[in-house]
Amino acid sequence: MDLLIKNGEIVTPSGRFIADLAVDDGKIAAIGRNLDVQADSTVDASGKMVLPGAIDAHTHMQMPFGGTVSADSYLSGTRAAVCGGVTTIFDYPVQHKGETILGLVNSKKEICETDACCDYAFHCCITNLNGGAILDEMAQAVKEGITSFKCFLVYKKEGMMVDDGMLATLLERAKELGAMINVHAENPDLIDLRTAKYLKEGKTSAWYHYMSRPEFVEAEADKRVVHWATHLDTPVYLVHMADKEGLEACIKAKEEGHTVYVETCPQYLEFTCDVYKREDGRNFVCSPPMKGQESQDALWKAIKAGFIDTVATDHCPFMQAEKDWGKDDFTKIPNGCPGVENLYPYMLDAANSGKITFERAVELCSSNPAKIFGCKDKGSLEIGKDADIVIYDPEKDFTVHVDNMHSDYDNTIWEGKKFHGYPVKTFLRGKLVYDNGEYVGKPGDGKFVKRVPRS
Ligand code: URP
Ligand code: ZN
Ligand code: ZN
Repeated sequence: MDLLIKNGEIVTPSGRFIADLAVDDGKIAAIGRNLDVQADSTVDASGKMVLPGAIDAHTHMQMPFGGTVSADSYLSGTRAAVCGGVTTIFDYPVQHKGETILGLVNSKKEICETDACCDYAFHCCITNLNGGAILDEMAQAVKEGITSFKCFLVYKKEGMMVDDGMLATLLERAKELGAMINVHAENPDLIDLRTAKYLKEGKTSAWYHYMSRPEFVEAEADKRVVHWATHLDTPVYLVHMADKEGLEACIKAKEEGHTVYVETCPQYLEFTCDVYKREDGRNFVCSPPMKGQESQDALWKAIKAGFIDTVATDHCPFMQAEKDWGKDDFTKIPNGCPGVENLYPYMLDAANSGKITFERAVELCSSNPAKIFGCKDKGSLEIGKDADIVIYDPEKDFTVHVDNMHSDYDNTIWEGKKFHGYPVKTFLRGKLVYDNGEYVGKPGDGKFVKRVPRS
């Protein structure tokens, strides 16, 4: 065997138990008490927890956006990922008019082959059907393991928006192919109307980012997506859910038996719209914005009740100088916040403090994204699965500072956040890539995750 992890508390979505875990050739080869195996390397995990690596199903690495490019490259973003216990990311390349899905995704794959520090998959954002050619190409993309596509119902001026007709077309095509449509739901016309009003009134602080797209602006679009998906009888995945009313529409659809998946993000669980009143409020500007306390409470309630399926980050950091473009005009702030290194520590801290169970944290951050998006070798500690493993010390205290993160950004909304419990080792397919504060892997360690379509 290559690796033996001894005496750790293994966490699965259905339970926890003390056992040894052996790894051979990148795969989990055995799990049991007092395994009698020889291994090249042995780790004593007594007093620690052994978890599947997290899957961050929502990142934007080196994405051209907001007049610049997001601050983490595939290298720095995936280096940060493994240092926070994330062993697979799903990135969102954006297709533009005339571009093909495979041309775009292959160009990202090429970068990742040399740069990625964790495994990677892509949800391709479709913004233009290229006269219908994209609908044909989706079949080939699915064959090549790209089984999910994203529609932005916003970013009209940026040329990224999908209208209702195109959304419906894509939902139906994806269903035929066993693929998934992920949707960013906010109402673009309401946003534009309200933005113009606030600018005219000279109301330009970060608070008006929230005010131009508050709860009901997101809820309208969430409900529209649920309406289309349920009436067309297609599965759908709503990304970065942040509001109570939209969430309730999803819960109702779920209860009626529809396949409506809901993702939320740590920033919506931690912060409310009050952050936009802060002097540094622009650093928290992302879309959808953080909402009021009622929405945050509803998100936690749904997490506990099992109505939220995944927690992912929407990692999209920008440098301070870029966030400062919007100091006096919220419309000039690039939208997005960092989080890939904070996801697992945040959700595991919630488990460590008793807010949720460790089993649920693993389900939300690893097993569910693996199942929903067809990563057959990922998402749980089972014999035959990839040995993507995190060793977590439930007693280690950690405070987030921009200087102890492993990204390239120079500011973080998580500055000063304290965690009780922290990942101490991350293994990517059996290889140690993070060890107690240090990145110890090699760019290029990451591999493309070829996914299987839904049956
Ligand atoms: O503000 C955000 N979320 N930026 C990234 C792009 C997106 O909408 O997901
Ligand atoms: Zn989005
Ligand atoms: Zn996003």
